[in-house]
Amino acid sequence: MEPLPEVTDPRIIDGRKIAQDIEAKVKNEVEVFVKEHGTKPALATILVGEHPPSKLYVKLKHWAAKRVGIISEDHKFPHETEQEEIIGLIDTLNRRPEIHGILVQLPLPKHIDERIVMMKIAPIKDVDGFNPLNMGKMLIGSEGFVPCTPKGIIRALSEHNIDPKGMEVVVVGHSNVVGKPAAIMLLNRNATVKICHVFSKDLKSQTQKADILIVATGVRGLVKADMVKEGAIVFDVGITWQDEKVYGDVDFEDVLPKVKLISPVPGGVGPMTIAILMEHTLEAAKIQSE
Ligand code: GUN
Repeated sequence: MEPLPEVTDPRIIDGRKIAQDIEAKVKNEVEVFVKEHGTKPALATILVGEHPPSKLYVKLKHWAAKRVGIISEDHKFPHETEQEEIIGLIDTLNRRPEIHGILVQLPLPKHIDERIVMMKIAPIKDVDGFNPLNMGKMLIGSEGFVPCTPKGIIRALSEHNIDPKGMEVVVVGHSNVVGKPAAIMLLNRNATVKICHVFSKDLKSQTQKADILIVATGVRGLVKADMVKEGAIVFDVGITWQDEKVYGDVDFEDVLPKVKLISPVPGGVGPMTIAILMEHTLEAAKIQSE
């Protein structure tokens, strides 16, 4: 991958810098953990199929684990693998005490029910926060392991000393991975939250009201300047791959002059998501070693 240019514009959220700071802290704490317990935290990843972006994301997660001193175990399956086989592996990983975190890369092939798979991951090893117990805890305001991308958004806000309390938040996209948990986590922080999606009418009239706009649809360039409020904070969580390049959901050049802050693609929420996964794996190792 080509290196990203250094971020000098104060309006641009430097996700790579935030991620590096998180990773540096995790690396130090991993060293302490190893001294205390004589073992390293360990993450197992499960990837089913040949979806090229998923292969890349999993690779990036293993590289990050290596950087911070976390062991990572890579389980890859062909597209046609039966759901029962994946569940069998999860059962085994749940029972292995030296594995602290389990991550199933999404999306899974259509013949596998993601919700059933997520239910099978032991909640204390659910470093992605997708198990319904962890999702439910988040819903009642008792956040444990929460999905990593929304947590990255919360972290970026606090890095920029922004308290979302009372702010108008509009989330575009209602996935379980980003949209829904981002909305709940901001609601937990007393923001006024609206979730829009593919069936919402007159999207522009909604997004124009947002003090914080989170866009996670996978539609390249969906959000233009006329959809954004002057002085808004914009998180672009969309990813579209075209001709080996990655594009966000926000027309960055168009929107930049209007915003207070914006997370770019690439170099925004992506690196933060991975760093938070490392933080969660360390946390899981600590909880399981108590
Ligand atoms: N696919 C897209 N984002 C994510 C993520 O944060 N975790 C997993 N497991 N799969 C994803």
